[in-house]
Amino acid sequence: MPNTLPTHIAIIMDGNGRWAKQRHLPRLAGHRAGAEAVKRTIEAAQKLGIKYLTLYAFSTENWTRPQDEINGLMDLLSKTLDTYTQEAQAKNFRLLVSGSRDPLPPTVLEKIDKAVQTTAHNTGLTVNLALNYGARQEILHAVNALLAQGKQTVSLQDIADHLYQPQVPDPELIIRTSGEERLSNFLLWQAAYSEFYFTPVLWPDFNAQELQRALDTYAHRTRRFGGV
Ligand code: FPP
Repeated sequence: MPNTLPTHIAIIMDGNGRWAKQRHLPRLAGHRAGAEAVKRTIEAAQKLGIKYLTLYAFSTENWTRPQDEINGLMDLLSKTLDTYTQEAQAKNFRLLVSGSRDPLPPTVLEKIDKAVQTTAHNTGLTVNLALNYGARQEILHAVNALLAQGKQTVSLQDIADHLYQPQVPDPELIIRTSGEERLSNFLLWQAAYSEFYFTPVLWPDFNAQELQRALDTYAHRTRRFGGV
């Protein structure tokens, strides 16, 4: 029997820089085109009836990029958070953010808070933006929260309950674009039983058809969860 539609899809959006380079454009033009692909993908996921979509927008390691690229990305994020909030209200999707607030600029933090508060009661697709996100840092955050409660030993459920967004179920499917085949500190805890789909398509070229391809492949995978 084919797998049913995943409840949660997580995407490592990779290849913006290479997309721009192929066109002799600055890297930021690639990120701008990437933001358009984000919009298309949210719409496609919503149409399909996916419940959760996690998008890796900025990793804790991305701070090592040149300062002008970081500034450009933060600026783009601020602007697109406004647009996404408006779209979320029009189309009933909810925005969540996973990651550490420090050292995100105050302007971005304000937009995040506004986006999360404004869309909190929407009942359609939940879009979880992984922003200044690192999976090892997330696990550490959970362990420290439990230590602060005075716990001597912790259970698997304790850790799961103290991740950044404990109400979001583990992703059944993780997609990475641009031909790279690694997890890069993304959802290490939640990916324990996820299926992986890698595509050479660069993120700015990702669209509804590519998402459908990933889902078709997923539908035919056998998931055993350690059983037979
Ligand atoms: C990877 O491409 C992409 C990023 C580091 C940032 C992701 C950002 C976006 C998709 C645009 C904005 C997103 C939102 C949510 C507004 P890369 O720069 O690593 O590409 P490369 O590996 O080809 O250099």
